[in-house]
Amino acid sequence: MEQTQQQIIEYYDRFYAGEGFSYYPPRFTRRVLSALCSRAGVRPGARVLDVGCATGYYSGVLASLGYEVTGIDISATGIRKAQELYPDIRFEVQDATALPYDEGSFDFVFALGVSVANTKDMHKLQRWLKHLLQVTAPGGTVALLGGSDLSGKDAATSTWYNHTWQEICSFPPPVNSARVRGPWLTHFRLMNVLPPRLSMNGTVTQILRFVPHSFPRRIVLLLHRDTDPTVHIEE
Ligand SMILES: C[S@@+](CC[C@H](N)C(=O)[O-])C[C@H]1O[C@@H](n2cnc3c(N)ncnc32)[C@H](O)[C@@H]1O
Repeated sequence: MEQTQQQIIEYYDRFYAGEGFSYYPPRFTRRVLSALCSRAGVRPGARVLDVGCATGYYSGVLASLGYEVTGIDISATGIRKAQELYPDIRFEVQDATALPYDEGSFDFVFALGVSVANTKDMHKLQRWLKHLLQVTAPGGTVALLGGSDLSGKDAATSTWYNHTWQEICSFPPPVNSARVRGPWLTHFRLMNVLPPRLSMNGTVTQILRFVPHSFPRRIVLLLHRDTDPTVHIEE
């Protein structure tokens, strides 16, 4: 069941006041994010927005790769902890659906497991992706990452909705100023061992579509904003 924004805030404030998420070791995640950034063509020193950054783990890894990172989340508790853990990174409490940044402020917008994508309403999801494209610089990229067992059902132990493959294929918004790559299905372990071209790849995706639903998969979708700044995103 989809939660209201207030329920999301209360849930994550409580969660981050306690234990929060546990993560892979940073050196593992560095390899995964290097593979992603390489596939996405992110340039050294790029301005990166970590959308729904929680307590800052992925922001920290992205900063360690040499990017200029801003992390945002709607949970003030998450942001407070992130700032304590990574004092050199800029963190802000912001709503990812109403970002206050100027058009084209970031070269790479990274959105992993953000609750806004946890919806059956494809128009709502597409509207949000358009919004992320607006804060992306011409030539930059939005990377949407999520998880799904492809079942088209809510998860047994959470409110997370598992999109079907058909729904995932309809995530990209109809815009005339972005080139879509993916969606691919992959897994962080694959991204850690295979070169980027193989871990985010159509053949791997087709294989992962047909392995049992219990196998955890990551969805990766890349939206590259055109370099021509005069082309605008259609409403
Ligand atoms: C499943 S957690 C993932 C967090 C983080 N990306 C990670 O993988 O560790 C979802 C996060 O999205 C944040 N979130 C949900 N709705 C949001 C919104 N409208 N704007 C900004 N952050 C939001 C939540 O507060 C939470 O921290």
